[in-house]
Amino acid sequence: MGRYIVFGGKKLIGATDIHGSKNAALPILCACLVNSGLNVIHNCPKITDVFNTLEILSKAGCSVKWDKSTVIVDSAKAHFIVLDDEIIGKMRSSIIFLGAFLGRFKKAVIAKPGGCRIGRRPLDIHFEALERMGAVITDNGRCFVCSVEKLKGSEIELRLPSVGATENILLAAAFAEGRTVIKNAAREPEISALAEFMKCIGIETNFDSSGVITVNGTDSFSDGEFRIIADRIEAGTYMSACACAGGEIFLRNAEASQMSEIIDVFVKAGSKVSYCDGGIYMKSSENGISPLNIKTSVYPGFPTDMQPQIMSVLTLAEGTSIIIESVFENRFSHALELNKMGANIEIDSLKATIKGVNALKGAEVNAFDLRAGAGLIAAALSCGEMSVINGSQYVKRGYESIEKSLTDLGAMIRYEE
Ligand code: UD1
Repeated sequence: MGRYIVFGGKKLIGATDIHGSKNAALPILCACLVNSGLNVIHNCPKITDVFNTLEILSKAGCSVKWDKSTVIVDSAKAHFIVLDDEIIGKMRSSIIFLGAFLGRFKKAVIAKPGGCRIGRRPLDIHFEALERMGAVITDNGRCFVCSVEKLKGSEIELRLPSVGATENILLAAAFAEGRTVIKNAAREPEISALAEFMKCIGIETNFDSSGVITVNGTDSFSDGEFRIIADRIEAGTYMSACACAGGEIFLRNAEASQMSEIIDVFVKAGSKVSYCDGGIYMKSSENGISPLNIKTSVYPGFPTDMQPQIMSVLTLAEGTSIIIESVFENRFSHALELNKMGANIEIDSLKATIKGVNALKGAEVNAFDLRAGAGLIAAALSCGEMSVINGSQYVKRGYESIEKSLTDLGAMIRYEE
């Protein structure tokens, strides 16, 4: 386990490359199981969640090879494995193997995911949908046991547009007899990327930005070659670092069209943002940070995965900001840590009231989840003193060498084992 040492108080000036998206890479790697063939996945981020996903694919008999940032997965010889405690405990999002397993092996056995740092994260939407497609799901105390004789194409309307449930249904639908229509599906760009990958391996899939996705099941797949989209949350994280520390940055490959709400929030807070095909340019506000009212929501709303980072920015605003967290019920662990740095944040259930202060001070703080860690690093970059951020194991789940990217941008940060 390691920590980040940050010497803040220095403006960020520079450019860095945005890596491939974590939340696009994970389901696409799961989807490599579908075609029993060769998959060449470019721009794959080197992060712990990807390494863990590849380990599951290897355990399930796939051959996995890296070539720079390209991963080649051959799933021809894949076989069934139990997704046990060890696997699910390491990475809760391994639940998105469920649909692919059920489709390819006609069964999936998944250890019950425990509580998660950011909320309960139940699976009812995943299960209801798969049952509608013909799966039988039982609970044997320690595991959920899912089996199916033949998946049936179905019309499924989701109670809420769960990202993981949409991904599981899509992959199960690839093997189903007939057509599956998902209504109120998740609309995130990462879902659209998964739908594109499915098309690339021969599955007729239609993603519609109004939240309806149709998939025509098949038993004839092809090999696939695909490039993972840029990580909009990584780009947003470096924008919050720039807003906290001040400065001027260019984020190569960042995709502005998938970040409208994030960009809008930084502009409202006073930053200048412009973009071109090659990336996003941002200049921090010269007249202070404006306070904001923000409510997290599903895409195209403001993402919950940017909530900790924007909270760090708003600790320095000229006035009082409100953040309502509407996606996860327990996602404010960073607020207490920011208060250790001199912020003034009060939490009342899903509402955070952030009274802006003139400056934060260096401190030793703890990250308890991935984005909380990113938010604390951004905050530390504003302090004219040294800070220590513990909990690097969470940050590494989703950022490929954050210390290197921030150093490219002119920050003084190092990682220490
Ligand atoms: C995914 C992302 C995560 C992001 C989240 C919301 C990945 C690997 N992870 O997580 O980074 O923060 O979307 O954008 O892509 N819910 C239920 N029942 C269910 C499923 C979900 O009630 O069966 C609830 C959850 O408790 C949560 C909300 O729906 O409150 C959103 O969850 P969901 O969209 O499923 O998030 P994940 O797929 O877990």
